[in-house]
Amino acid sequence: MDASAKTVSAALLAWYDTSHRSLPWRSPPGQPPPANDDNWPYRVWLSEVMLQQTTVAAVIPYFERFTQRWPTVLALAGAEDADVMAAWAGLGYYARARNLIACARAVAARGGQFPQTETDLRLLPGLGAYTAAAVAAIAFGERAAVVDANVERVVARLRAIDTPLPASRAAIWAAVDQLTPADRPGDFAQAMMDLGAGICSVRQPRCALCPLQTHCHGRAAGPERFPVKPPKATKPVRRGQTFWIVRDGAVWLVRREAKGMLGGMRALPSDSWSARGDGQGDPPLAGNWQSGGVVRHSFTHFDLELQLMLYSGGDWARLEPHQGEWWPMDRIEEAGLPTLFAKAARLAVVTEIQGETG
Ligand code: ADE
Repeated sequence: MDASAKTVSAALLAWYDTSHRSLPWRSPPGQPPPANDDNWPYRVWLSEVMLQQTTVAAVIPYFERFTQRWPTVLALAGAEDADVMAAWAGLGYYARARNLIACARAVAARGGQFPQTETDLRLLPGLGAYTAAAVAAIAFGERAAVVDANVERVVARLRAIDTPLPASRAAIWAAVDQLTPADRPGDFAQAMMDLGAGICSVRQPRCALCPLQTHCHGRAAGPERFPVKPPKATKPVRRGQTFWIVRDGAVWLVRREAKGMLGGMRALPSDSWSARGDGQGDPPLAGNWQSGGVVRHSFTHFDLELQLMLYSGGDWARLEPHQGEWWPMDRIEEAGLPTLFAKAARLAVVTEIQGETG
């Protein structure tokens, strides 16, 4: 470690000693988890999996409930899948919970002991680069570069790295690696996270309170510039049609195929639009269709313009009962339609009322 890296890590650790957050999965600063306690790695691993894509405040009650109900990795490995999934409900990104179960069972198969190095941790189910490094550093005191989005921001500012993400990731990782001390690497990683969460925040960082302010190359240039983001890709617009078919005060609803957008959800019938392309405008019934307007909806990777088509024929016998159901229009709110189709249904109802009175 060069002299300036040593000064930075020492300043950060001194700040952590007095300003750390006390969190239920942490051991106190300067006191690494006891080597003979099998349960610390379990608690560290569980917290790190929960903290991916979720805030500390949201995780705390889940962490407390999990560790009360399943105090050890062996207990978690022996749990029913459905119980773990239900306990996870509300934390989101459910693939993490499935991996959590798989990982607990892999550790149970090793007698309940986690591997102790970053390299070996990487071999467990669901442990990516970040989690393996975090568990190695925090639970086992291995010198590993722990880089999450908070750390990325702190270091991009500290070193004024002006290459846009994601190309800058290698340089950011190298800078974190260079700063990480051999002594107290777990405290160092968590100090970086606390600094990123409380002081070096995304907007309006509180530089005057920062223990690294005299070392920070980004501060003068305006720290909010860093990390430099890539230009936003414009979303493609996809077009499709959705079909409103009414009979005796009931509307025809279908269940979407399990795979694909809104998979398994109840919906209005629609044509074959998807994230990849426009629909082919193929209605479920031949006959008389009129436009009822357009619904716009934004998904993560595309915007959708959905043309609402209203049926005014009477050829209902062609609808296959196993493909859908007649749902009372006055209880449409209870159908559990995803927002896109709830919008289309509201538009259809308004259009029909106007058609009757106009
Ligand atoms: N985010 C991810 N891991 C964390 C940790 N150990 N402490 C605080 N925030 C975190």
